[in-house]
Amino acid sequence: MATAATKLLLIDRVPGINRVPNSYIRPEADRPNLTEVEASDASTIPLIDLEGLFGPNRDNIIRQMGKACRRDGFFQIKNHGIPEEVVQAIMNIAGEFFRLPESKRLKNYSDDPSKSTRLSTSFNIKTEKVSNWRNFLRLHCYPLEEYMHEWPTNPPSFSGKEVGEYCTRVRELALKLLEAISESLGLEREYISKNLGKHGQHMAMNYYPPCPQPELTYWLRGHTDQNLITILLQDDVPGLQVLRDGKWIAINPIPNTFIVNIGDQIQVISNDKYKSILHRAVVNCDRERISIPTFYCPSPEALIGPAQGLIDQEHPAVYRSFTYEEYYHKFWNRGLRTECCLDMLKIPSA
Ligand code: OGA
Ligand code: NI
Repeated sequence: MATAATKLLLIDRVPGINRVPNSYIRPEADRPNLTEVEASDASTIPLIDLEGLFGPNRDNIIRQMGKACRRDGFFQIKNHGIPEEVVQAIMNIAGEFFRLPESKRLKNYSDDPSKSTRLSTSFNIKTEKVSNWRNFLRLHCYPLEEYMHEWPTNPPSFSGKEVGEYCTRVRELALKLLEAISESLGLEREYISKNLGKHGQHMAMNYYPPCPQPELTYWLRGHTDQNLITILLQDDVPGLQVLRDGKWIAINPIPNTFIVNIGDQIQVISNDKYKSILHRAVVNCDRERISIPTFYCPSPEALIGPAQGLIDQEHPAVYRSFTYEEYYHKFWNRGLRTECCLDMLKIPSA
């Protein structure tokens, strides 16, 4: 366990120690300059009201989603139908977990990315020399019965029905969003939800402790999400930023909303109409931050490729077909590179 412990963040920091450990210090050549750290105001990332999604407002909502997916690959949603208590409960449980003494959490630690339940830091400790200033607990959550027994038993609230309830609710929401996104591409409503096998679902509980020297660390470094869509819940501490036209834009917390982003697989299905955008989470000196993304994925054996309906003479297929499993392995083994691994699947243009 010694190596695990030294790789973990120093959450139980001894008072008076106010330096970032070496394994978290990013190389000097790779430090951000000040203009890069500064983020613009986020009011420009659309907030879409889902009220009436199954009524008279559907066409209008779908148009807004299409526009957001083409331009930013990100949008925020309100009136999403998930009760406030369910959301509050999952946030509380995540907070309780990360505030447990390190010794109680350590038994969930693993640096093997193929494990379905694990506590770790960074993406892949085996291939990355410098870790991100983030701890995360990754949980598979579909089908629930297959994975619940692997979840932490501490804090005891983890064993209640709240985590499962949250997962089920977010899954229903994800399916509604995928249908709307299909329609926004001009595909039949169930194109994405029906064609990709029985679908996986994972959740991460991300914990960003206060950082004594944020400018020296990688925060959660820029990345795209490899799945279909991500539905992110964040607490009230700002940190999430997305890249638009070469500038980082902050998406500051708005109560009772979720942030939705397009992952690499929808970029492929849409034949590059929709964008899987680089995003990151910055850390700060004095406040911890918790975020809980749900990653909705195709099944491993699902065959992904540009939708036939979106390919024509003017828009030849940008990607070859591949299974999600193939993609997943490429993603987790790509080492330090932050660029999207979609490039490896592009068909060379004539
Ligand atoms: C992620 C992610 C953003 C955040 O976990 O993939 O992008 O705000 N998280 O923590
Ligand atoms: Ni992400």
